[in-house]
Amino acid sequence: MKATETPLLERFWYPVMPLQMLEDGPKPFRLLGKDIVLWIDGEGRPSALEDRCCHRTAKLSKGFYANGMLACGYHGWEFNAEGTVMRVPQRPVDKQGRTNMRVPAYHCVGRYGYAWVALAEPLFDIPDFEEEAEGCRRIDEFYEVWQCAGLRVMENSFDNAHFAFVHRASFGDQGHPEPAKLEVEEYEDGFLFRSEVPVRNPAAQKELLKMESDTTVRHMRARWYAPFLRKLRITYPNGLVHTIVTGATPIDDRSSQIVQFVYRNDTEEEAPAAKVIAFDRQVTEEDREILESTDWDVPLDQTGLEMNMPSDRPGVVMRRQLLQLIEKHGGNTRQAAE
Ligand code: FES
Ligand SMILES: [Fe+2]
Repeated sequence: MKATETPLLERFWYPVMPLQMLEDGPKPFRLLGKDIVLWIDGEGRPSALEDRCCHRTAKLSKGFYANGMLACGYHGWEFNAEGTVMRVPQRPVDKQGRTNMRVPAYHCVGRYGYAWVALAEPLFDIPDFEEEAEGCRRIDEFYEVWQCAGLRVMENSFDNAHFAFVHRASFGDQGHPEPAKLEVEEYEDGFLFRSEVPVRNPAAQKELLKMESDTTVRHMRARWYAPFLRKLRITYPNGLVHTIVTGATPIDDRSSQIVQFVYRNDTEEEAPAAKVIAFDRQVTEEDREILESTDWDVPLDQTGLEMNMPSDRPGVVMRRQLLQLIEKHGGNTRQAAE
């Protein structure tokens, strides 16, 4: 699947940038091969516009904030959140006001501390995370580019067969390579995966979990939200909840913007955020190292280009569900939405 040649992918919400990064001015982002500018208007609303001024094509991400609007850095035309030119500074004062000139605007909202963007009418809502209602603390972990396809990141996080190998230096147990059993419950926009995985409990984790034993069991409840978002809720036997939200936002065919934050039901005193991040850093680096070596063009149909084993079922279901969504909603929907 080439992300930029799959119009269906424009119809999903993606976390693209921490809102904090937009406080001091507009920032560029490439989403599905399209250059957009992200910014925050005078009412604090994030907005996503085409990163190309309708006057002389300068990148609006090189502009600045003025009068609650986004001013182009070239001649200062001012755009509102919908992309309409509201002020041309060169005009006399009595000729100012809304114009009929505009740049394309995309769906954009702020949620969980990030600007989320959909390039065309979204098929599904941004998920509600139960951890918010439970009062868990949120820790922002990673915001970085990986040179691999989003689907590889997604199937990896539902892959019980890789822990013993990819994570042999952290929590994987090479003595037990048999993958834990799993259940998959399908929804229209993805699936819920349940599994109980026995793992090693290395020193760094013993401290974070407040557990002395050398092994533990991860009760994993993971939700895949098509196409590139997953929420993995891990509950340890002592009641600790560690939920990892990972987005693999498609930059282009070959690279993904990794957005990762976690929810925990303990306190900063019990497990300092820096230590939580450090442990997940090691695990994430182990995944990244191997995932960046995979083919970026993931075949959705199972025609023998890649072999499977039973534990690959979540990844196989992902491919089938994406194919079904393409069949149902395919075609170029961008023009219709604009
Ligand atoms: S190029 Fe943007 S105002 Fe002239
Ligand atoms: Fe992994």
